[in-house]
Amino acid sequence: MLVAVAELKNLDTCSLLSCVGVRADLQGRGIGQALVERVVREALSPVYLYTLVPEFFRKAGFRDAESLPPDLPPRSIYGCSACDPALCLCLMKPREDS
Ligand SMILES: CC(C)(COP(=O)(O)OP(=O)(O)OC[C@H]1O[C@@H](n2cnc3c(N)ncnc32)[C@H](O)[C@@H]1OP(=O)(O)O)[C@@H](O)C(=O)NCCC(=O)NCCS
Repeated sequence: MLVAVAELKNLDTCSLLSCVGVRADLQGRGIGQALVERVVREALSPVYLYTLVPEFFRKAGFRDAESLPPDLPPRSIYGCSACDPALCLCLMKPREDS
């Protein structure tokens, strides 16, 4: 049974976390946070993400990205034209050992 999903891509100088989602009837039980913590441990470089729910990711240790790595794909790869770009933040989390 599928409970939650997340995608992590290790790029040249950074990693990109995307597609984080928990099944609607299982949200609010700590699954999302546990999944993000687990996936971030697989990253080979600092993890970046774009999100409309920054508070969830801040609780997992992410903070505002001050600058964007050159190999980080732009928001437009998600084709989220129906979304509000002004509300979409880029957050990052350094590697644990950095
Ligand atoms: C966002 C999502 C992944 C969170 O997963 P979850 O399993 O419900 O979250 P958790 O139970 O692990 O919550 C961890 C903490 O984040 C908080 N939190 C969860 N969702 C939040 C949200 N949308 N906004 C702000 N805080 C949120 C919780 O209150 C909890 O805080 P606490 O530790 O102080 O109690 C899930 O709600 C989801 O799949 N939403 C729809 C898809 C989505 O928006 N994905 C993100 C795309 S970038």
